[in-house]
Amino acid sequence: MMSMDTDSPNSTTSSGSAQDTAQPVVRPVSYEPNRRGNEATYEVIEAIRRGETPAPTVHPEVDPSNAIINIEDFNLWYSETQAIHSVSMNISRGAVTALIGPSGCGKSTLLRSINRMNDLVEGVRVEGLIGLNGSPIYAPSVDVISLRKRLGMVFQKPNPFPMSIFENVVYPLRIDGERRKSVLEEACEKSLRAAAIWDEVKDRLKRSALGLSGGQQQRLCIARAIVADPEVLLLDEPCSALDPVATLKIEELISEISERYTVLIVTHNMQQAARVSDYTAFMYLGRLVEYGPTAKLFQTPALIETEHYVSGRFG
Ligand SMILES: Nc1ncnc2c1ncn2[C@@H]1O[C@H](COP(=O)(O)OP(=O)(O)O)[C@@H](O)[C@H]1O
Ligand SMILES: [Mg+2]
Repeated sequence: MMSMDTDSPNSTTSSGSAQDTAQPVVRPVSYEPNRRGNEATYEVIEAIRRGETPAPTVHPEVDPSNAIINIEDFNLWYSETQAIHSVSMNISRGAVTALIGPSGCGKSTLLRSINRMNDLVEGVRVEGLIGLNGSPIYAPSVDVISLRKRLGMVFQKPNPFPMSIFENVVYPLRIDGERRKSVLEEACEKSLRAAAIWDEVKDRLKRSALGLSGGQQQRLCIARAIVADPEVLLLDEPCSALDPVATLKIEELISEISERYTVLIVTHNMQQAARVSDYTAFMYLGRLVEYGPTAKLFQTPALIETEHYVSGRFG
């Protein structure tokens, strides 16, 4: 069982320091600076461990009127086991939002709920609402194939198809029936440029994508994910299989791409979340715990749990 680091000095209180204007919904956290080995408590985390679903702490800077994705009281079960518990959150349009939390807390599940990839898992049941640009994605009338086209997705492990670099990038357009060479070529170049890999591959577009390095393959997968102009780009730990240099390139790319796309990224790397995202959501055991501007979550979080998680003191 995870427990408090009893030796940690506690200089920051849970309500944060001088916050100028908007105050988050601060829940009181009983945490005493601990020098005698007394158990200090993570009130919210303990409640969640008991099976409760406390209301999340959402900072007021998360503006619902700017939401591209609205998640309302969303629950998901894998057969009998509930993996997402009443999550409500608005994902801001045109921003990068990071999902963080210990392994198994439901980050990938939540991401896969947004493009309905969990539909492919047997025994999955959902309740609640997810809206994309105002329309509910779990409505019976929704065509899942066209929904997935509106959401580009990139996974942990690069997954180029065994075909040429060119064919990889334009694949989503081909299956959509696009045959015009000029259209495909233009889209291919545009996406490869946006994915910051054009210069490295422009002279070998006809060669197999499998010959690229891992980092190049992942940027290729990002190019493929954006070629059909999705509304949102979903990234599930896109750098976890990459070396530090390739990781840095992807991070730079995310910052550039976010000028045009909304990005939702799962990461277990706190520095990465801090570097690339505008908003951060901290999840625990399928619940949303604290959600707000990344700078606040990392510097003046409302909850002691968040403070300790982002600084690596638990989880
Ligand atoms: N396909 C699946 N079938 C059953 N349980 C699953 C499946 N995928 C994930 N889970 C469970 O759901 C919970 C959340 O998992 P996941 O979303 O992968 O977490 P994270 O991405 O935060 O590590 C975990 O308890 C995990 O074991
Ligand atoms: Mg995951």
